[in-house]
Amino acid sequence: MLSYRHAFHAGNFADVLKHSVLTLTLDYMTRKEKGFHYIDSHSGAGMYQLADEYAQKTGEYKEGIEKIIKDESAPEALKPYLSLINSLNANGDLEVYPGSPGIAKAFMRRQDSTHLFELHPTDIQHLEDFCYRSKKVFIKQSDGYQGVLGLIPPPSRRGVVLIDPPYELKEDYVKAVKTIIKAYKKFATGTYILWYPVVKRDLVEQMKSNFKQSEVKNLLQVELCLTPDSDEYGMTGTGLFIVNPPWELTKQLEEIMPYLKAQLGNESSSYQLEQLIAE
Ligand SMILES: C[S@@+](CC[C@H](N)C(=O)[O-])C[C@H]1O[C@@H](n2cnc3c(N)ncnc32)[C@H](O)[C@@H]1O
Repeated sequence: MLSYRHAFHAGNFADVLKHSVLTLTLDYMTRKEKGFHYIDSHSGAGMYQLADEYAQKTGEYKEGIEKIIKDESAPEALKPYLSLINSLNANGDLEVYPGSPGIAKAFMRRQDSTHLFELHPTDIQHLEDFCYRSKKVFIKQSDGYQGVLGLIPPPSRRGVVLIDPPYELKEDYVKAVKTIIKAYKKFATGTYILWYPVVKRDLVEQMKSNFKQSEVKNLLQVELCLTPDSDEYGMTGTGLFIVNPPWELTKQLEEIMPYLKAQLGNESSSYQLEQLIAE
């Protein structure tokens, strides 16, 4: 089943949280001269036009990036992300929004390499067009879970892995965590970022419990819920599990999360930030 298209959701509140963490992580990785591998298991199209029929149909970006893009009083920790989005929209209007490969592209240096997996036949084509002529970018139309495990450990022994499935299938909740647990056994010093939606609370609790029963150490969880948990259909919140986060990320998220809750949420919104497993 491949009905999910990220073009409907680009720039929504979940992207804001995920991509601000990705930006801070890649920014941190590029502070050292030594190269690193960026591995994106579920890449999407790479870049999105917000005027197209998909983004316009849902208007999700209007409840996400559009609400904060011009806010000069945004916290310092959010500025690298906002500057990146602004730099891609240099004429002042919010017209394009980067996917995770677009964020990565802004950071990668000659010594780094990017490995992108995507299954959808249309999005892989967009991704290939987007990365045309980019050096050291390797794209495969194959399963991203297998792809991650095949590249671990990276020869540089420095790596960031983003796992961002669509969760169209319930098995993604289990598979995504299992992939990180397996990868961690081979490469315990890598940074792993796993995105999840809050649709049913017990599925998130199961992910937490699977991590807690594993060998994984140094696990941070951050979550932004726009509305309280509900049994109705739909995503009420969004979160990330981050294994081996950059050392200042918790502090940066302490600044970012109250701001995102205030700007993107309402009085019934909440956030949490917790070191789930110690170093
Ligand atoms: C949430 S989107 C990715 C968004 C992207 N990471 C970003 O942040 O811009 C999930 C993508 O995974 C793709 N996909 C679904 N199953 C996959 C699999 N097993 N391996 C690789 N890609 C997959 C979908 O086609 C979709 O484009």
